[in-house]
Amino acid sequence: MNEFKQAQELYDQQALCYAEQANANKKLLDTRKLVYSLLSPVKHKKILSIGCGDGTECVSFAENGAKVVGIDSSSELITLAKNKYSELGIDFLVMDYEETSFEEATFDGIISIMSIMYKADLTKVLFELKRILKPHGSMVMVVPHPVRKMIKYAHFDYFASGLHYETWENVTRYNYYRTIEEYYRLIKASGLSIESLLEPKPQLDKPYQVINNISEHLYPHALIFVLQKD
Ligand SMILES: C[S@@+](CC[C@H](N)C(=O)[O-])C[C@H]1O[C@@H](n2cnc3c(N)ncnc32)[C@H](O)[C@@H]1O
Repeated sequence: MNEFKQAQELYDQQALCYAEQANANKKLLDTRKLVYSLLSPVKHKKILSIGCGDGTECVSFAENGAKVVGIDSSSELITLAKNKYSELGIDFLVMDYEETSFEEATFDGIISIMSIMYKADLTKVLFELKRILKPHGSMVMVVPHPVRKMIKYAHFDYFASGLHYETWENVTRYNYYRTIEEYYRLIKASGLSIESLLEPKPQLDKPYQVINNISEHLYPHALIFVLQKD
């Protein structure tokens, strides 16, 4: 089964439950706000969200005057997104972010929040996203911070990149784990430039969840790249 179908099957099975968990997760909600702030002002801009889930991450962009398109592998999540947010004028489509049907230089901005780790060939994905970005367009790419795995799993080998399985909120999902050095190398190879790199400190209400004796607010959960096309 190809990776798109695999992701589709995975997220179709748990669409409602995933959306509920995601929209109740303070760290993810803060990440969405930060991603919005990194691309704002967005008035009259064309923004694409890849792996948009139930579409909630698109809302602040649409409410502030952007023309927004959200794509996802899961038809169940796209149906949810259409039901919730179509009246905001957002277009939601089932589409693979590795091979989109958009014309070259369509978008001013692209966001990817915890969605780019489902493909083995990240270079191919980045070339496709660069193709559909306008010149000087920006992309905000959020991936799980690799240090999380060191905290979560005893004896985890930081350097063991590749296909991993990980349980989040009681559901096991596959993803391609990469080190920071690897992300840097793959981004450079795509020809996109790195404008900034962020490791936001989780702002959590007490009591913090403690994993392996380490409170969640003491390490970064997301690694955020702001990329630009020349
Ligand atoms: C962890 S969820 C993140 C969803 C959303 N960005 C959020 O933060 O709530 C990953 C999403 O990526 C989507 N996805 C995975 N592979 C994809 C692909 N090749 N093309 C489009 N979407 C994909 C999944 O269906 C899923 O909705």
